[in-house]
Amino acid sequence: MRQMIASMSTPLALGVALVAAVIVRAIIRRYVTPIRDVPGPFLGSFSSLWVVYQLWKGHLEAETISLHKKHGHFVRIRDNEVSVSHPDAVRQLLHANIAKGPWYAIFSLPDYHYVNQMSELDPKRHIEKSRNIASGYALSNIIKSEPYVDAVLELFTKAMNETIKAGKPFEFDKWFTFYAFDVLGEVTFSRSFGFVETGTDVRNAISNTRALALYIAVMGHYTWFHNLTLGNPLLSRLGIQPSSHIFDTCLAAIDARKENPDARKDMMQQWLDTRAKYPDRMAENEIFAAAVSNVGAGADTVSATVQSLFYCLIRSPQYLGRLREELDAAQARGELSPVVQYNEAQKLPFLQACMKEIYRLYSAVPSPLPRVVPKGGMTIGGKYFAEGVILSINPWVYHRNPALFGEDCDTFNPDRWLKGDNKTMDSFLIHWGAGYNRCPGRNLAHFEITKLAATLIRGFEFELTDPKKEWEWNNNFTFVPWGWPCNIRRRSLAADY
Ligand code: HEM
Repeated sequence: MRQMIASMSTPLALGVALVAAVIVRAIIRRYVTPIRDVPGPFLGSFSSLWVVYQLWKGHLEAETISLHKKHGHFVRIRDNEVSVSHPDAVRQLLHANIAKGPWYAIFSLPDYHYVNQMSELDPKRHIEKSRNIASGYALSNIIKSEPYVDAVLELFTKAMNETIKAGKPFEFDKWFTFYAFDVLGEVTFSRSFGFVETGTDVRNAISNTRALALYIAVMGHYTWFHNLTLGNPLLSRLGIQPSSHIFDTCLAAIDARKENPDARKDMMQQWLDTRAKYPDRMAENEIFAAAVSNVGAGADTVSATVQSLFYCLIRSPQYLGRLREELDAAQARGELSPVVQYNEAQKLPFLQACMKEIYRLYSAVPSPLPRVVPKGGMTIGGKYFAEGVILSINPWVYHRNPALFGEDCDTFNPDRWLKGDNKTMDSFLIHWGAGYNRCPGRNLAHFEITKLAATLIRGFEFELTDPKKEWEWNNNFTFVPWGWPCNIRRRSLAADY
């Protein structure tokens, strides 16, 4: 072999040596590991390439579900990562205070000097950071913004009325994302971003956020490369990173808030107050990091959930009819305001069942949530995993498991939440994640979605412009549906704006 390489030209010899090194490394990764016996796709046995390829194609969740059907509870999806579907894993991995997988480190934006709540891998430090910002996310705080969220919803119905007058189809996919961004603006910074009012993608925030989601999902597996290139502290100062638009959006919102005499006790104010009270416990940059996390995590997720709800209801007229009956009856009893209030929507059991079902069926994060096996290893479902192995849980894998949710778990059936005791199903509902890393925005998300759904479904009829055409969607980390324009009509109960 040596003689063979010696007889080659230098570039060729270097090339051969490089290929040989890559092959040896791949063989080591595939076989010299305690998870060598776990089945999975070939590419995944020695690299992250299988996951990256599926992310690129946009359906990592579907492929993971089908691999679990074939191989059972454990599937090796990367050289050091096993996707787990065993029922005990939610308790053992998500509810336990164990470290998050290194993939989350990519969320340190603009570079690795800025470790925020999302990119903090250590559970103890993560819990401290969460405690500092928890008051902003409390329902009691969010409710204070309700009149301002109502104003966004009034603008929304106005836009629907104008679309009807213009005789055009209404693109819920676009408008629900506008709504979600503007609600975030109101609740976080005391001012909406103006998406609904202008009917445009302000600062291209929506298209940029989607490109960023794919970048993050892929680069999370190659953080070293990100840190050398776009995440390099030298480059991050130039503002050419994929995430720059989020900083610009947040900085502009924070500057505008400083000038706004009507700024309220919004999320920002809650965080500023916490920092003033505990300056040793909370760093100043945690406030900015939390605002950035909101804008990055709180719009597409909400839009996807409410789109899924409307789309499933259109496709299931029996459930849409029942929900309208519930809303019309509450309206007739004088229990609903012109813009439905959160506490009113909470009293509608069928609406709440539909929401739970949509959280289950179309969870907005259909991606693996990785955790690292702690010191001493861990046994799940009789299978031992050594310290350092990454075990991940994909909410879609759990939520589409017939053993947990019933044989019809692939279909939209809100009644499953109205039958008898559903505590067991509830404990497997992980659309917000679970444990110390559970979504902090869940109160806000549920608040804004239920108000929107109740107000629009009571006030408007909607049908697909082409009922034969299915919606489209992909998953480049979060669930992003599109392409289901509707013809809409006002019902007699529609508020007049
Ligand atoms: C229906 C809508 C939503 C869903 C389904 C959802 C789901 C999730 C999930 C699954 C996680 C990750 C948990 C993990 O990694 O273990 C997460 C994290 C997060 N979400 Fe949400 N989310 C939604 C809306 C929101 C909203 C409206 C906000 C902001 C107000 C928000 C802010 C965040 C933040 C900041 C994190 C990172 C938390 C951390 O690392 O500690 N989310 N969300």
